[in-house]
Amino acid sequence: MFADFSGDCVRVTALDGGLVELCFDRQGDTINKLDDKAVAEFGRAVEAIAAAGEVRGVLVTSAKDVFIVGADITEFGRKFQNTADEVARDVLKANQIFVRFEDLPVPTVIAINGFALGGGLELALCGAQRVMSQAAQVGVPEVKLGLFPGFGGTVRLARVAGDRVAVEWVTGGRPVKAADALKAGVVDAVAPPEKLREEALALLWRCVEGQVDWRAAQQRKRAPVAAFDAMVYDEALARLARQAARHQPAAETAVRMMREAATCNRTRALELEAAAFGAVTQTQAARSMVQTFLNEQAVKKLARRRAEGGRKVRQAAVLGAGIMGGGIAYTTALRGTPVRMKDIAPAALELGMGEARRQLGRQVQQQRIAQDKADAILASITPQLDDAGFDTVDLLVEAVVENLAVKHKVLAALETSVAPGTVVASNTSSLRIDDIAAPLARPEDVVGLHFFNPVPVMPLVEVVRGSRSSEAAVATATAYASGLGKTPIVVKDCPGFLVNRILTAYILAFCDLVAQGEDYEHIDRVLEAFGWPMGPAYLEDVVGMDTGSHVIDVISAGYPERMRPAAHNPIRMLAQQGRLGQKSGAGFYDYDAAGGKPLRSSSKAARALVAQLQQGATSVLTDDAIVERMMVALVLEAVRCMEEGVVGSAAELDMAMLLGVGFPAWLGGPLQYADWLGLPQLLARCEALSACGPLYAAPALLREMAAAGRKFYPVA
Ligand SMILES: NC(=O)c1ccc[n+]([C@@H]2O[C@H](COP(=O)([O-])OP(=O)(O)OC[C@H]3O[C@@H](n4cnc5c(N)ncnc54)[C@H](O)[C@@H]3O)[C@@H](O)[C@H]2O)c1
Repeated sequence: MFADFSGDCVRVTALDGGLVELCFDRQGDTINKLDDKAVAEFGRAVEAIAAAGEVRGVLVTSAKDVFIVGADITEFGRKFQNTADEVARDVLKANQIFVRFEDLPVPTVIAINGFALGGGLELALCGAQRVMSQAAQVGVPEVKLGLFPGFGGTVRLARVAGDRVAVEWVTGGRPVKAADALKAGVVDAVAPPEKLREEALALLWRCVEGQVDWRAAQQRKRAPVAAFDAMVYDEALARLARQAARHQPAAETAVRMMREAATCNRTRALELEAAAFGAVTQTQAARSMVQTFLNEQAVKKLARRRAEGGRKVRQAAVLGAGIMGGGIAYTTALRGTPVRMKDIAPAALELGMGEARRQLGRQVQQQRIAQDKADAILASITPQLDDAGFDTVDLLVEAVVENLAVKHKVLAALETSVAPGTVVASNTSSLRIDDIAAPLARPEDVVGLHFFNPVPVMPLVEVVRGSRSSEAAVATATAYASGLGKTPIVVKDCPGFLVNRILTAYILAFCDLVAQGEDYEHIDRVLEAFGWPMGPAYLEDVVGMDTGSHVIDVISAGYPERMRPAAHNPIRMLAQQGRLGQKSGAGFYDYDAAGGKPLRSSSKAARALVAQLQQGATSVLTDDAIVERMMVALVLEAVRCMEEGVVGSAAELDMAMLLGVGFPAWLGGPLQYADWLGLPQLLARCEALSACGPLYAAPALLREMAAAGRKFYPVA
């Protein structure tokens, strides 16, 4: 008789007819994950099954809503401190447990009831057969952490579903729904959630009774990939080379390794996977992206905490139906909160509504929402020229033109229409919240809610706490931003707040480089190759040269001791010449919008204008030196923001830069990058660059931390 096994994460119980059920049920948690403890317990459970001679088949289930969400990422930081060889040895040890389970002399059927991601799917692939709930999703998302599967996933996916599927899943990292997983051959059957267990059990019986050749399925996984096709790997490598992801080498490393492993038996293939996995854990991308995952969790938790005590926004209002106001109203309505949208110009209201209509039309076309739902969302936006109904509004976002006098006039007039306690949130990008609130009767109700353009797409919102903002107002604004599906980060009220302030230092470094003769197109190429989605010149073209120029002027005026106005500022010069960037068809580049998306091309006219400003100076810097000038300026401003408490934590700062301006993911954010460079080394660079101006002066915090041997991560 089989003796039950019972652990904290796994238990095995006898079923009728000589079958056993191995159930993942992590005590004290709502999910299952594969941390060291769970893997070890799984190993003991498998040994218990193997030792009981009379077992005829194993059903693997989960008692949670998920199957297994994956490895425990909080353990990665510590594990990746080990050398590549040590990491490889550790995963091979875990792999032995997986192999032991895979090779059980009886059929094993996995019932995938919910998410089986990363290690969760890798474990499921060890079973002889898999049945998946229609509500579940499977996948190997490791590439998003700068990694690839290390528990045999690359080996087994190729042998179970073929090399094309394996390469696509490993390099893409996308979660896959049941029907597609079945089509791909990753699972053997799909069942409605309520019938999953029953059908998995029935399949197990068919295996036991010899109706399903489970031994062949098991054997296939020990052999080389059956229909190995080298082309599949070569095509993937060519595609990855085009993506120029040289700073994120995981996908390419995986494909190269999988190509070699495909022709080997399982033992050798697992060794190859482990060795390559060990190596990839040492890359900057993996370290950064794993920490970014943890930062994301930390920031979500903080947002929840900061939103406590806020009032629920049942009715919102937006002032100004322009680019930002229109986007904010649309996003608010889409997320289920009715919103009033006021403007002084009927034409602006029509534009704002037209944009919402267009966006909703696209959602319907993409079958994301039904037409009647879209109609209801549009109807929940009330365009108006007066203050009707403002007395019942919980939160109001001001998005009128960027002019302090106008904002004062508008908000002062409004104060009599809204009730005390209604949160008044300004979307200003360059004014101070304290300045906006100063003449108002209830400054405690005023905060900043700095959305980024385009609002429906950009995930970050800075919640700006003025010196007189109440905790309740900050909490309400944070909760509202979270409710829109955004990531709110609370920042202090200072010129440029957090993201634009840090970005301004970077753009000023760009202006200096151009003024001293560096070619802006070359700078763009260098920074894009470094991992930025757009180089700085291209970025200014997208932002709009007039807006960009104004923002830089206003923010740098706030830090006169180090952000000196550039004597020869190419952005201002192009703005004065009417080259406003993409929106006017010409900026640093020329744009051809004929095909829909504006295509950039080099502009002789812009180059000639910039050459005038350069007054004959020519390029002298290497690519590395260009990166250093731009990135060190940015990182130092980030350190100053920490020094001044502009933001509460390194995690929030790094997330804000990743989400707000597309900071290169493989660096993990300015402060992770600073740690990677080494704070003493960064300090030495400040000294070396001191002749380039006060932007490069070492912040006191950097000196202190470097002297004390401290780093920004890990956070205690
Ligand atoms: N455009 C961006 O990329 C961006 C990004 C972040 C923040 N912001 C900030 O958002 C705010 C709005 O910017 P925008 O780009 O949407 O400007 P916009 O010019 O597109 O829209 C401003 C709108 O406000 C309306 N308006 C002016 N006075 C008004 C009043 N008294 N009452 C009601 N409506 C009035 C105008 O008619 C216009 O429709 C500014 O503070 C800006 O700094 C802009």
